[in-house]
Amino acid sequence: MASGCREYTVSILGDTHFDASPTELYHGKWVPRGPKDLRDRKYEFARNSDMWADRLPRLIAAAAKTRRDDTAFLLHVGDLIQGDCTDYGIQLKMLRDAQAACIRGFGDLPFVVACGNHDIRGGGERAVDDFVRPLARRMTGRTIDGASFSFWHGPDAFVIVDFMRPDAALINRMLDETEGARYTFFVLHSPIAASDTWGPYWFLLGKPCDTEARRALFARLVARNAIVLCGHLHVTQIRRWRRDGGELVEFCSNSVWRPQEDKPSELATTPAQFGEYARAHPTPMHEDHDGCLQTRTQEEILALQDEYRPGLVEYRKYRAAGHYLLRVSDGGVAVDFYACDSLSPTETFKLKFMV
Ligand SMILES: [Fe+2]
Repeated sequence: MASGCREYTVSILGDTHFDASPTELYHGKWVPRGPKDLRDRKYEFARNSDMWADRLPRLIAAAAKTRRDDTAFLLHVGDLIQGDCTDYGIQLKMLRDAQAACIRGFGDLPFVVACGNHDIRGGGERAVDDFVRPLARRMTGRTIDGASFSFWHGPDAFVIVDFMRPDAALINRMLDETEGARYTFFVLHSPIAASDTWGPYWFLLGKPCDTEARRALFARLVARNAIVLCGHLHVTQIRRWRRDGGELVEFCSNSVWRPQEDKPSELATTPAQFGEYARAHPTPMHEDHDGCLQTRTQEEILALQDEYRPGLVEYRKYRAAGHYLLRVSDGGVAVDFYACDSLSPTETFKLKFMV
């Protein structure tokens, strides 16, 4: 185990969907899969360009101002870019342009990225791997294949997982290699368990064929008292499970700052509300997200959610975008949430016991 300080902070950005106009700049070679794809992507391209013309640079400038002398690195939990480039060189340029935009104001602080679905969308697998490799090498001292890797910071383990190309054997190996950590931070773009949103089945190892592996991994992370840091849902959310003497906490960050989200609003505040969204939306959710998901009926979704109801002791979800500061010490772990471009914390989420 590497030595190092026991008290430090980590700056966190959630989904940022970097993009710019004109559309041809990054999407000139993109070909829609059909009318719905064209409609959906046009909405996202416009949303992102509008966001990056003003609000996101302000949010990132605020994040840079709230970093501290003890901030170890800047962590991005994925969907760094919009993707949809359909060209290796353009996708790699988009990733690097996004990195430059996100680290502005952070000096030479290391940048750690968990690969999101948009980061590889549009044929970007090779571009993501080539983008992540030098960033991962800086943290691990090794050359890695793919976009999953682990490293130590002081007594703590950071396990970074590429959820779009999940490899249960590799994930378990990384957990084996980091046994004995004071805190285990399990970082990935997607949630670790079924969510209660428009895509409840879209989480790590969420395909039916991976059922056994995802149940085993969830149990292992509970036993490990892991802290999951994720994004993807475009909400600020905390979930905590206590089962069999272990405790797993998951925190979801979001930096997609839409105009209607200038002020945070509550969506759920108690575990009993988990499943409300799915029950209120009886239409089967069958979208083929990025070609990696399978049709689920509402009954299947509710059954999937039921697996994650036992032991769910905390569930709070907010329509809220901003930047975050993870604070780590022997006394515990907390996240300060700064709404939009705030320079003072809007709310503090206690992830592990704070003295
Ligand atoms: Fe996203």
